[in-house]
Amino acid sequence: MADPFPLCYLNGDYLPLREARISPLDRAFLFGDGVYEVIPVYAGRPFRFRPHFDRLDRSLAALGMAPVHTRAEWETICRQLIARNDGGDMYLYVQVSRGAEYGRNHAPPTGLAPTVFAYASPLPALPAEKLEQGVAAVTAADTRWQRCNIKSTALLANVLLKQQAVEAGAHETILLRDGLLTEGTSTTVHVVINGEIRTPPRSPQLLPGTTQDVVTELAAQAGIPTRAMAVTEAQLRAADEIFIGAATIGPLPVTRLDGRPVGTGEPGPVWRRIREEFEACKAGLAGTPY
Ligand SMILES: Cc1ncc(COP(=O)(O)O)c(C=O)c1O
Repeated sequence: MADPFPLCYLNGDYLPLREARISPLDRAFLFGDGVYEVIPVYAGRPFRFRPHFDRLDRSLAALGMAPVHTRAEWETICRQLIARNDGGDMYLYVQVSRGAEYGRNHAPPTGLAPTVFAYASPLPALPAEKLEQGVAAVTAADTRWQRCNIKSTALLANVLLKQQAVEAGAHETILLRDGLLTEGTSTTVHVVINGEIRTPPRSPQLLPGTTQDVVTELAAQAGIPTRAMAVTEAQLRAADEIFIGAATIGPLPVTRLDGRPVGTGEPGPVWRRIREEFEACKAGLAGTPY
């Protein structure tokens, strides 16, 4: 089957994804020593270009690495990938690893050339029933490390935790650490209590979500109060609404948690309003600057 978006970028070249090769000694392969971003593109336009690349540079800095490209260079790479893959809706995956070395040293050698890879992929299908009925989630203890604010390619804990959702027939696993909500395996979790959207405060225990910032802005526009504050397990379970958010899906309602209905068991009015604003925001993207 043909690749839907066949052209990728690797270390300065644009080439067919099927021909892209990196060394098996790349540290992302051996150690998960790399960071990444996922940038949605609507109608040929990246959504929240700057926040994604700001976060990429923060992730690189956390690894002791310098930015690998300027914003202008990233913009060129994104523009090229979008145009050479015929524009439209997609997402761009961007990964920077510390690079390849001969041997296998835990301590990173200095002076390695980073491996920079980017490709385009279809946005995940969001069937109408997921928006109309919401999705199910399960909860689990957050078994990840204490540097979850780094968007690292070392995602084994997230993978295993997501598998728990799949095995339970659910969409996402919502994580709890010491009795408090952190986030989903690949989503920010928002909880609605008495009409207010509450999201756990930023900390090393969770990824600062770009969609979370969009939700906060859209809520302000819509006059819905938001608060960054700790959410206890009891509050999560008693919430009027829960919704998750990530760049490729936007805000999505969770209507069952561990087999029990969330609130009325239907997508709630606060999520509905945010989703409407989100769709309007996407539609208004055409012609806006990167
Ligand atoms: C662990 C985790 N939390 C939150 C998010 C949401 O971040 P964003 O809204 O920037 O996609 C993601 C996205 O992949 C994630 O992997």
